[in-house]
Amino acid sequence: MTDKQYQITLKLNGQTRSFEVEEGETLLHVLRERAGLTGAKKGCDLGECGACTVILDGRAVNSCCVFAVSADGKQVETIEGIGSEEHPHPLQQAFMDAGAIQCGFCTPGMIMAAKALLDRNPHPTREEVRQAMSGNLCRCTGYEKIEQAIAMAAEVVASYAEGKEGDRA
Ligand code: FES
Ligand code: FES
Repeated sequence: MTDKQYQITLKLNGQTRSFEVEEGETLLHVLRERAGLTGAKKGCDLGECGACTVILDGRAVNSCCVFAVSADGKQVETIEGIGSEEHPHPLQQAFMDAGAIQCGFCTPGMIMAAKALLDRNPHPTREEVRQAMSGNLCRCTGYEKIEQAIAMAAEVVASYAEGKEGDRA
């Protein structure tokens, strides 16, 4: 890493934010250390575990492998941007309901990878779910409950899209 500084601007969870970053600094480092968004986790730091997954211009990426300067001008979505304690995203609710969370370390990355999938494919097959989640590792739950949670959330998201949300209006 050098001392050379660059200014980048991100559309971060819907807000325009600018950061001074170093050459070689990762997007994960910017999110955690400069933006204070610690949902994306630093697991392997090598692109192998998926704990750092965020959505960059609509695609799930390992933010530990993305140079911050290359994210300049792009949209970044993190776990902090998709739900709240009072109003969890359907994926967050489904992970809780399905028992797909134990230690929780992998969960933000899992949910962002799953959200990128459902955003582009609201009706994924089990095989498509497995493929989309293949870069996200979980040491606790096994993968069955995670797949169940994604299938449950897909039904909820699809029902919203079809205007069948009943009394939620
Ligand atoms: S911390 Fe980025 S893939 Fe493991
Ligand atoms: S819940 Fe612990 S690593 Fe997945």
